Formats: sequence, structure tokens, C-alpha cells
Amino acid sequence: MHHSSGPPHFLSGNFAPVSQETPPTKNLSVRGYLPECLNGEFVRIGPNPKFSPLSGYHWFDGDGMVHGLRIKDGKATYVSRYVRTSRLNQEEFYGGARFRKVGDFKGLFGILMVIYEVLREKTKVLDFSYGLGTGNTALAYHHGKLLALNERDKPYVLKVLEDGDLQTLGMLDYDKRLSHTFTAHPKVDPITGEMFTFGYSRMPPYITYRVISKDGVMHDPVPITISQPIMMHDFAITEKYAIFMDLPLYFKPEEMMKQKKRMFPFDPTKQARFGILARYAKDELLIRWFELPNCYIFHTANAWEEGDEVVLIVCRIENMDLDAYEEPAKKELENFRTELYEMRFNMKTGLASQKKLSAPSVEFPRVNECHIGRKQRYVYAANMDESAKIKRIVKFDLNAEPEPGKTSIEVGGNVRGIFDLGSGIFGSEAVFVPREPGSNLEEDDGYLIVFAHDENAGKSFVNVIDARTMSSDSIAVVELPSRVPYGFHGLFVPEEQLEEQAKF
Ligand SMILES: [Fe+2]
Repeated sequence: MHHSSGPPHFLSGNFAPVSQETPPTKNLSVRGYLPECLNGEFVRIGPNPKFSPLSGYHWFDGDGMVHGLRIKDGKATYVSRYVRTSRLNQEEFYGGARFRKVGDFKGLFGILMVIYEVLREKTKVLDFSYGLGTGNTALAYHHGKLLALNERDKPYVLKVLEDGDLQTLGMLDYDKRLSHTFTAHPKVDPITGEMFTFGYSRMPPYITYRVISKDGVMHDPVPITISQPIMMHDFAITEKYAIFMDLPLYFKPEEMMKQKKRMFPFDPTKQARFGILARYAKDELLIRWFELPNCYIFHTANAWEEGDEVVLIVCRIENMDLDAYEEPAKKELENFRTELYEMRFNMKTGLASQKKLSAPSVEFPRVNECHIGRKQRYVYAANMDESAKIKRIVKFDLNAEPEPGKTSIEVGGNVRGIFDLGSGIFGSEAVFVPREPGSNLEEDDGYLIVFAHDENAGKSFVNVIDARTMSSDSIAVVELPSRVPYGFHGLFVPEEQLEEQAKF
């Protein structure tokens, strides 16, 4: 079942996994300077499969590996560690891949894989009691804990040690109150300190919404009714509401029987539905559903209220195809576009509208997180090429109008600046770090920090960019001792949070 023409795209070049963890490596070479607000640890997670896949390889597969840059008083230390998940421990014991992955769920082989795995569970060859997740998608910090997240599982708690090293403490179930999966994209309200999250399931309730108090107490589940099981990757909050995205990427195991069909096929004939619920609602009785033209959305940038309207900023995908993340050099990509969009939902009239804010292709949108749930101005997003590599970081100004008729991302209109990583250099999601957290500085007064890889030189580094000017002169470039594969989401954990989590 292996690909006949060389390794799959997402296992080759700098998508290929590194074969080893890197213990903390100190005193890295720094060009420029590391500003004081970067004291902390910049972490980025991604898939790093330890063992060869059983059949196909999908980019969403792969054991989670965290790459950390510990910054203290201008000095930098790099470390990389696997998230020690239950499945990784078991596969290490057997010395090879055993658990099914997204890449296996295709055609008749997919069905055989499911049957084979059920047999292994029944005969106690595999233990499913500690989940199936890879912890490979995103990181969040809440209530003194750094969490490694994957939407198929519960969170794993990581501890950042004094020297920047990363240790997996175990799975978090909120005193047994969490019995379902947990999105990789929970939202922490910067004012109230609460965390809002949800999980999706193949059995009803297909969506379950949860609120976690500032003190880490998980409130009762709020089931959200939708017609079919779907893949819901992200959601959004405002000061009053939670926004759920019922988009037609359905869970259909029967489709697997048909050759070349995925278990999550996309239905291009269905409307996109958005459910808006008061964020402290105890049930879904008062949820309001809105419809917009067909699309898929992996990521929201932010949401807020404006008069009677709820505004949602997203990266909207036309002609979604999950197969493109298995082998992107296919014709599907010609139609595959990701653009920044503003969506508006009028809570009084029930009407919805949308407006395109960018040319293709932008993904991994981030904002100054002091403004989550509140009206804000700047979005920083990754500009990707056809092979899913990030070549530029783009700063959008939501107060400015997009220039009409643009087919590629250029400075002007609502594009305030572009940081080009350079020829043959590709990056990851850029994370905004404010110069003074919680202060009344301008929203864009801070830095963008990003892992990057120079394919010509075969070297990885961390780039610090001035978010205000988006100047092509980096504030700092930190050379890394080993290769950092392209991956998913990042998080900056400031010094105060490192001290707080050390106490747990
Ligand atoms: Fe994501």
C-alpha cells in the first residue's frame, strides 16, 4: 500500500520527521537581540512520526513533537521532545506503528485497518483506555498548565523545566469531568481567565461545549445538536457568545468502502452553518443558526460583537479536499483556495453576510491575544505556496479595505506589511508577543516569533520580526543546532506563566 514514486510529500524534505529528540542545547548563536518581553519559552508543535506508517501518510498523522526555544535575558536554549502519549509508548514497546491513522482510513484497506485494530483491542494487544491522540496539533496555557492538544483526544499536560526541557506529565481529565475529545483550539478569555472549549464525536451528541473556570474547574457539558457527525477543528468566542461552525466535512465510514474515498468526505452542495450560543448557556435551547455559502474553515482568527452583529474573522476554504494534505501535488490544489474572510451574523434580523478580505492563500491566522473575543485590528497570517510551505508572514489591517481584483498577496489596501522569509526559506505559524502584556500599548506593538528552515543551507532557525513595521530586517535570528520540520501551531509562554506552572 506504499506510494510507488518515492516518499509521500509530507514525509520528504523538511516535512520529514527528525529521528531524535534534542536535549536542551544552550548558548545558541543570536544575531541581533532578544527583547525582554521574549523572556519565556516559545513552543511549536507538529507531527513527527516515530515509525513508518502502515499505509498512506496524512499530514495530520504523526506523533506530536514540541520544539522549544527557552529565552532568558537575551540568551537562547533549544530543545525538542515527543509528547509522551499512550499510543507512542505502546508503539515504542512493539517497535512499530500499531494504531490506525488518518492516512489509513481510505478504501477497503481502511475497513480492514479498523477491523484489525478492534481485534487488537479485544485481545488486549493494544490499550485504548488512555486515548488515541498524538498530541500533535496545538498548545494552550491555562490554569498553570501547558497543554499539548489533538482534537481526537484529551489534553496532555507538559511541564517546562528550569533549563527549558519539556516533560509530559500525563493526560488531563478535569477530575474525571472530561469524557469526550477536546479541540486543539480552545479559547482563553484574556479578561476573565476562563477557557472555552468543545469536543466532537462520531456518536450523538456530535458536539459538546464546555466552559472551564479560571481556577481550572470544568462546568457541565452542553450538547450541541447538528444533523451529522463532522470534523469541527476550531470555533470562536466573543464577550457574550460562543460560535460553532457546522461545515460539511462529514464523518462517513461507509464512503471508505468506495475506493479512494476518505472517512471525512466533503459535500460541496451543503450550506455552511454557524451556531451562536450565549457563552454561559446551560443548554442549547437559545442557539441561533445562520447559513452562508458552502465552505470549510480550519481556523478562526477572532470574533467580537458590534451592535446587533457578531463578527467572525476566518480563513475560508473553497473546494475543501482532505486528500490534499496527503499528497498535495494533485489537481485538487488548482481549485483549493484559502482566503481571509469577515462574516457577519445579525442577531436581530437573523441575516448573515460575508466579505472576502484577501487573495489566496493565507492560513494560520493569529492576533494579539490580549484581544480575544473583542474587536481588534490586526491579523497575522501565513502565506502558503502550492506545497503547503509557508513563504511569507502577512499583516492585515481589518480597519482598511482590501484592494479589489488582487490575485496574489501584495502590500496595499488592507495588507499593511509582508515579511518574506527569503528564497528557499519556509516557516511555521508566526506568534504575536506584545512588548508589554496587558498594557495600553498599540495593538501591534510587539514581535512576531517564528520557526523557519533554510532548505538551501539545511539549517533551521527562529526569526523575531518587528510586528509594527514588518521590516525585512529581523530583530533577531537564533540559529538552531538541529533541523525543525515544518509543523502546526505555536505558543509563547511568558516568564510569569513558566514560574506559575513550575509550582504545579
Ligand atoms: Fe489548527
